[in-house]
Amino acid sequence: MKRVNVALLGLGTVGTGTYKMLQSNQDVIARKTGTLFEVRRILVRDLTKKRKVEGVGHLLTTRFEDVLDAGVQVVIEAMGGIEPTRTYVVKAIEAGCHVVTANKELIAKHGVELEQLAREKGVQLLYEASVGGGIPVLGTLQHLLKANRIHKVSGIVNGTCNYILTQMAEHGRSFDSVLAEAQEKGYAEADPTADVEGFDSAHKLAILCRLAFGVDVKVEDIPRKGITDITVAELEIARRLGYSIKLLAQAEQYGEEGPVALQVAPTLVPLSHPLSGVRGVYNAIHVEGDVVQDVTLVGQGAGEQPTGSAVVEDLCNVYRLPVLRAASLRRPMILPAGEESGLQF
Ligand code: NDP
Ligand code: HSE
Repeated sequence: MKRVNVALLGLGTVGTGTYKMLQSNQDVIARKTGTLFEVRRILVRDLTKKRKVEGVGHLLTTRFEDVLDAGVQVVIEAMGGIEPTRTYVVKAIEAGCHVVTANKELIAKHGVELEQLAREKGVQLLYEASVGGGIPVLGTLQHLLKANRIHKVSGIVNGTCNYILTQMAEHGRSFDSVLAEAQEKGYAEADPTADVEGFDSAHKLAILCRLAFGVDVKVEDIPRKGITDITVAELEIARRLGYSIKLLAQAEQYGEEGPVALQVAPTLVPLSHPLSGVRGVYNAIHVEGDVVQDVTLVGQGAGEQPTGSAVVEDLCNVYRLPVLRAASLRRPMILPAGEESGLQF
């Protein structure tokens, strides 16, 4: 049996889900991959905080240097934010460690340079958990839809917003009370503005665009509107007219090397459309390719277990996947949102 030492950066929602799954599914992982993963160090901010897992006290540290000194082969980043996270990820890669991360903001803003560094060092940088929670959408785009020309990627990619909109529409609950519940359940970002103002969806859309179209989109260039203005009354009027309101992230490419229309916005979706029935914390990503036609992936988009699952699946793939060669990325011409872009239902 191969033994691999692992460090976790962060023991919040994602770190806890990851740690728990490594314990609960150790036998399955060993049987299917022939590998025993052992967590040797966990970086946190506060050593006195009560943790949701037992028996980890001796693993906790607040010093990143301890992580690299622990002789680990893989670093799992579940801290969030850009700094000091980016510095730690760079140091881990430079030390020859594979990195698995759930951090969409980091990958959206610095993924290209981090992947370049990882390739130079011959290590993996995997980030399946960064988009769609437990849904294996990035692996699908990278490994299972390589031969299709992708035209369009769209979907519900923020679990917090979908949870809020569903609860408001179905139970008439107030935005603030549902947001508080989403935070308690561990769905929301540390600063939930990122969720409800659409920044988180924009980060995820930038990552999807890179993998689907080979274009390097700057997050700031994505036209974006969140859900803070949506009221229970509007959701009810929409329903009576035959629609639901969903926060959709959409990207459509016109021609093989053509411009890309992008937007994150609350969108009227006909009740008969499959995305309309995606409720609660569920996400759904719809991919249109020239030959496959269309594929929709649905699953839980946030929270301890689905995200922990995506991280652990990446960990298992570290030793199975080839280090990807450099993709030739283009800067896209971005079409303005609105009717001309065609991003309508
Ligand atoms: P949490 O806030 O629950 O956990 C963050 C963890 O990182 C905590 O354990 C915290 O330590 C630790 N941490 C934060 N900053 C530092 C620092 N400077 N030094 C050391 N430790 C630090 O976040 P989540 O688990 O929700 O999210 C983590 C990442 O995963 C983010 O990038 C997020 O966007 C992403 N993600 C989250 C999902 C979710 O459903 N929550 C789903 C998919 C991705 P301490 O506990 O001591 O405070
Ligand atoms: N805050 C994010 C969401 C976590 O609600 O979708 C999953 O990326």
